[in-house]
Amino acid sequence: MSVKLEGNILVTGSNRGLGLELVKQLAEKTRQEAHIYACCRDPEGTRAEALRKLTAQYPGKITMIKLDMLDEDSILTAVQAVSKQVGAVGLNLLINNAAINTPASPAPLSATRKKDMMEVYETNVVGPFLLAKMCLPLLQKAAERHSPEKDMGDKMSCRRSAIINVSTLISSIEKCPETFPVAQMYPYRTSKAALNMLTRCQAEDFKIYNILVTAIHPGWVRTEMGGEEAPLTTQDSVDGMLGVMSSLCNKDSGMLLDWEGNSIPW
Ligand SMILES: NC(=O)c1ccc[n+]([C@@H]2O[C@H](COP(=O)([O-])OP(=O)(O)OC[C@H]3O[C@@H](n4cnc5c(N)ncnc54)[C@H](OP(=O)(O)O)[C@@H]3O)[C@@H](O)[C@H]2O)c1
Repeated sequence: MSVKLEGNILVTGSNRGLGLELVKQLAEKTRQEAHIYACCRDPEGTRAEALRKLTAQYPGKITMIKLDMLDEDSILTAVQAVSKQVGAVGLNLLINNAAINTPASPAPLSATRKKDMMEVYETNVVGPFLLAKMCLPLLQKAAERHSPEKDMGDKMSCRRSAIINVSTLISSIEKCPETFPVAQMYPYRTSKAALNMLTRCQAEDFKIYNILVTAIHPGWVRTEMGGEEAPLTTQDSVDGMLGVMSSLCNKDSGMLLDWEGNSIPW
């Protein structure tokens, strides 16, 4: 199935897990003119081998970019490199996918240190905040060039200009009584709840530029983070998420949705 996404698309944490599958399906399912900026910490290292292979399979369609979400200089250098390549066309879609979850599950209070709280917050919230802030001029360029007629009059879409923050069901404060007993994860839950607020704030802030900002929960997925017991494959989760991204419009900005498009309460 092809997806209704186009232009310049940036994905963070794209060397493995959901990020790698996002790049794979975006390369497969978008038209030749689309370009994917696949960001990872160490493009030359062994952990990026699968991404290098994928990049070679789609000549001219994927550019690997070095990006460490914990390092402000690295974020700036990455955005400058993307800016140089996209020029006046700008960036159509930023997918903030990279994240960490420490200490390892079930991560009870007793095993959680200040260091975990700080590192997870910095990676999962401060990184996406800085990246969006630095990408804003590129997202504005893309938004200005796009004709909303293409989207049946809706001003906002992932084709025009958008930020997708990959969140989680267990960020939901309302659902905490049912989800807490199976996954305590203080640093991760609190960071993703903060990412939701970042999503809501940026949706308000950027609506004057017609930039859509939505948080998406990928489901419980079999990756290094999700573990082997997770019921969903990366293929099915990403197929669902790209379908949801293709259909997002004005009413979805500032929302938390799941990979099938269902709304999740804050
Ligand atoms: N899997 C699930 O069940 C599940 C459920 C709900 C939400 N999510 C969310 O989905 C997203 C992807 O998760 P996943 O399951 O694919 O996780 P994963 O397999 O653990 O992959 C995480 C990715 O983030 C990257 N990353 C971590 N810290 C980084 C940093 N400082 N700078 C740049 N990249 C960094 C990793 O790169 P390295 O290889 O360099 O470490 C890796 O590419 C995350 O936002 C996660 O919270 C996942």
